[in-house]
Amino acid sequence: RLAMWLKLLIVCALLWRDRSSAGPPLRHASWLQDAEDAMDVQKPPCENFHEHACGNWHAQYGLRALGAHDTRSSLRALNKQLFVRHFEASGGREGQLHAFYDSCMNDRQSLHVYMEALQRVLPDWPLLNNATHFSWSRGNAAVRRFGAHGLWRLLVQQNWQAGEQQIFYLLPPSFELLGRSDMNEFLYQRYLKYLLLELGLRVRRAAQLAQQLSAFEQQLQRLLPGEQDSAEALVLHAPQTLQQLDAQLPQLQLLDYFRLLLGDAFTPQLLLVADTGYLQRLPALLSATDELIVSSWLLLQLPAHFELHLHEDTSLAAQREQCLQQLNRLMPQQLSQLLLRLLHGSDAAAAAFYTEAQRELQRVFDALQLQFERLMNATYIFELDGATHALALQKLRAMQLLLPQPEAPAPATEQQLQTTLGYDAKLLQLSQAQSLQQFRLALGCLQLPCEASAAASSWTGSTLGALDVNVYYRLKLNAVELPLGLLRAPLLQETAAGSNYHRLARLYGGLGYMMAHEMLHGFDYAGINYDAAGRMAAGQWPARTIIRFGARSGCYLSYRYSNATVMINENMADSEGLRLAFNAYREQLGESQLNSTALGSFFVAFAHNWCGHAAAVALSGGQQQHPGHWERVNNVLGNFPEFAEAFDCRAGSLMNPPDKCRMW
Ligand SMILES: *[C@@H]1O[C@H](CO)[C@@H](O)[C@H](O)[C@H]1NC(C)=O
Ligand SMILES: *[C@@H]1O[C@H](CO)[C@@H](O)[C@H](O)[C@H]1NC(C)=O
Ligand SMILES: *[C@@H]1O[C@H](CO)[C@@H](O)[C@H](O)[C@H]1NC(C)=O
Ligand SMILES: *[C@@H]1O[C@H](CO)[C@@H](O)[C@H](O)[C@H]1NC(C)=O
Repeated sequence: RLAMWLKLLIVCALLWRDRSSAGPPLRHASWLQDAEDAMDVQKPPCENFHEHACGNWHAQYGLRALGAHDTRSSLRALNKQLFVRHFEASGGREGQLHAFYDSCMNDRQSLHVYMEALQRVLPDWPLLNNATHFSWSRGNAAVRRFGAHGLWRLLVQQNWQAGEQQIFYLLPPSFELLGRSDMNEFLYQRYLKYLLLELGLRVRRAAQLAQQLSAFEQQLQRLLPGEQDSAEALVLHAPQTLQQLDAQLPQLQLLDYFRLLLGDAFTPQLLLVADTGYLQRLPALLSATDELIVSSWLLLQLPAHFELHLHEDTSLAAQREQCLQQLNRLMPQQLSQLLLRLLHGSDAAAAAFYTEAQRELQRVFDALQLQFERLMNATYIFELDGATHALALQKLRAMQLLLPQPEAPAPATEQQLQTTLGYDAKLLQLSQAQSLQQFRLALGCLQLPCEASAAASSWTGSTLGALDVNVYYRLKLNAVELPLGLLRAPLLQETAAGSNYHRLARLYGGLGYMMAHEMLHGFDYAGINYDAAGRMAAGQWPARTIIRFGARSGCYLSYRYSNATVMINENMADSEGLRLAFNAYREQLGESQLNSTALGSFFVAFAHNWCGHAAAVALSGGQQQHPGHWERVNNVLGNFPEFAEAFDCRAGSLMNPPDKCRMW
């Protein structure tokens, strides 16, 4: 019994230490130690390298509550932990961020703030004041001003034909809350009913109206063609001007809609890509529906968008999560700056670190490009086709590395957040500012070539904040994009940290591999249809070259790969990308230092990208699938003869299969 109590006490003490230890986690001395701790050296490397490298890896207590389940989500969780400690310690100095986080955690939300905001834009809402006239077009715009979506989603995104240009996309609603199941619908209807009760409706009336609203939304949903993700198909529509679209769909009163959104900046020349199928079917439904239903539905889209009270009984952890996500979405630049400061101690130290990091990452990127160029010059794929070879080299050389630029907060979000406001009002203010900023971006560059500098740097959007840890290849920009959330220890070290080969192995096997993986997406089955400028160029590669490409990539369809046809692009990018990183690492290290320890260290660093298990998320149809971590690591390394050599794996062992894949 005593032993048991003692153990419990020790556990408590450990947990306590884990909670109270402040300051940046994973300092240099410890990142190597952490890497070693993750390993299970009892497990023979040739039998299952993922287990060998990651067998003892687990997310620290406290990080799990912040969503850590594998190496990458742990980095995100570490960033969150830094923020939570900072915001929840007394006397933080981060004015706006702090005020917003505080009110998000503590304020009681109120529906009336949202209703009043809408009424200031458009006074007449039948449900609120018995108005007899309601313009759904204006109501639809009123909701969008605050960042919520109404009868359609209005997004600002890159023009698929000209990546540097931002244009408007008019898409059907996402129906996120309504969903497609009876259970979802039931919960959503109940949610609407609560909102209506809060507006002062009697119970029976609220229940009846909620039911009508959800029925209306289902009718909207039925205007979509089948289950297919129309956003995917839409990407291929050519942009047109608002004027053209308005002539095509006069009943939608689009000029009026945009005038209300854009005010003085309004012009009928702005560019749009629209899902015209959905929009054409919309007016008939609207004219057949009671005005009270349409207006009330639009009205409630605003609080629903901000998830008002949706998480009423959430745990503290979930609430923190929600508040941090809001910060990441609405004040990405400020949050990124704060992350750098918290990681490095001061703005000056952060700037010094980040400048050096940018240089170093660009060097690695250049080295990967060079390695790829060498492989392209030697490959069988282009052997008889100098023209395609030249196009591929051109694309590779034009490929850019995009790094977040946290030091340039956007003017619109910089404006003073009124600290006296409650949470709801702050939320609306920030979201409205963000919408305005996006609209300006789309208006800033109507003509190509685009000169507005704001548009040129538009890729520093909300996907690159401090809580983002996914790396992307931007097909239409021909660029690899790294998020700020990853640019930290243990992936990126201060230059002096660690002995040389450890540090290089970590750099090339970590961020180097990730960049190379994305680089390969420029030349996978999707990538080869786009040219150096990111323009659609299907048919640019002649058939015989595609056949050769297919012959080499066919190996990735073998029995070793599960769901191979779905995941072939990922599997190619993994193995071929690691090849680039490996070659660059070897060259960087130099022949004199190459021995099995240094090589092994690279392979361990690679495996450590994928410790833990993949999140059990339901993947929707359009999304790119990735194989599980275990399969990923072992299959990739099984393709490297150098791996088998470094660990002395006998032929035919799991990690040294006979049929090794190599395309380039
Ligand atoms: C709307 O009209 C009803 C009666 O038709 C009345 O009871 C209610 O107070 C009115 N609401 C407002 C906000 O004027
Ligand atoms: C690849 O080949 C091109 C000519 O086809 C040449 O200009 C280039 O220098 C070569 N690159 C490398 C890295 O050898
Ligand atoms: C293969 O893909 C299907 C759906 O596309 C999924 O349900 C299944 O779990 C996948 N299998 C593996 C082994 O990943
Ligand atoms: C391998 O080379 C590294 C330097 O790259 C050196 O530190 C290490 O001791 C060497 N290991 C062996 C077993 O020779």
